[in-house]
Amino acid sequence: MTDQAHSLGADDTIHLSIGVPSEPLDTQLLLGIADALATAKTTYTTTAGLPELRDRIAETRPRPGTRENVIVTAGAGQGIFLALASLINPGDEVAIVAPSYTMYASDVRLFGGKPVFVPLTPSQRGFFLEPNQLEAAITPKTKLIILNSPHNPTGWVADIDTIRAIVRCVETHDLLLLSDEIYKDYVFDEPFVSPEAFSNRVIVIDGISKSFSATGLRIGWVVADEQIIQALLPLHQLMLFSAPAPGQYATLRLLKTDYQPQLRRLRQTYRRRRNVVLEQLKDVSLFDTAKPSGAFYVFPRLRQGNALDFANQLLHEKHVVVVPGLDYGPEWTDFIRIAYCQPESVLLEACSRIADFARGYEAAHRLPKQAVLA
Ligand SMILES: Cc1ncc(COP(=O)(O)O)c(C=O)c1O
Repeated sequence: MTDQAHSLGADDTIHLSIGVPSEPLDTQLLLGIADALATAKTTYTTTAGLPELRDRIAETRPRPGTRENVIVTAGAGQGIFLALASLINPGDEVAIVAPSYTMYASDVRLFGGKPVFVPLTPSQRGFFLEPNQLEAAITPKTKLIILNSPHNPTGWVADIDTIRAIVRCVETHDLLLLSDEIYKDYVFDEPFVSPEAFSNRVIVIDGISKSFSATGLRIGWVVADEQIIQALLPLHQLMLFSAPAPGQYATLRLLKTDYQPQLRRLRQTYRRRRNVVLEQLKDVSLFDTAKPSGAFYVFPRLRQGNALDFANQLLHEKHVVVVPGLDYGPEWTDFIRIAYCQPESVLLEACSRIADFARGYEAAHRLPKQAVLA
């Protein structure tokens, strides 16, 4: 959709598709990169990453650890790829909470594994995971569960009971849990809980991309039990040798500062943005919109028509780019994903165009579908 928007070339296009925060790059990271370049900190680092940076990352985690528990990667995405490439053998099954960030299932298939999707259930109060459905997806071939909370694309945040249920499932069946926590600083209604606090079978994926507006610096990390880290290191060395040095030095500088007040402000900003979008969409009768508690996405379901068709027409007629749910699998073709990582004024304009377009679209698609949200 983004490529199509670029080829259309309309000056007033609003992109609500890609998950890139609108804020400028974090100042500490900017100064850190400049300093690293000026002082020639531009060579390889140790394969697992700068020891001092790994210490800082280990200290910030809920489960006390050391540098031996951390690998610095080229973004969270490389951490996911590294973990799955190292751990999945042909024939292994991987339970994935769905809809899901498309990389998980693609990687699992690439390494000969089989993704088994465990769908979230939508309701007006938000999406939720039924632990029984997760249990039902586990077979003797299951190796791993993939959890992403706060969640792309629905904005779901797993509450503590759900986290405990997932951990129980992991422990009972002797599995591993890949916990992608890249949106952990975007939680609006309840505190973020990492499953890492309850089990040493958890492989945490995290990084600076979303929390510090640094998607292009390509710095992320994997945190896990030392034995798992040892299993990941050989492939990391073959793939990358080491994550980009300037980004590592800049991240170290950032993590030495007190960045929590800044993250609190970020949370407030995005809570407001979420509320603005929900308020604007609440009277759009074409949509069933479950309230998201985190990340920066809403995932409304269309009561009529087809979401791909809707997204295409919305782009051509109103110059607003959203992601059709089809990207997340055939079960999600009625949904669209709206990323609200833009200033409020832009969101207001985008929502007004969406609402306007939705009215006409609904009138043109008379065949009603049943509303699914209770
Ligand atoms: C759930 C999820 N995990 C990981 C990533 C990739 O993060 P990074 O840019 O740090 O590789 C994204 C990017 O959108 C994402 O949505």
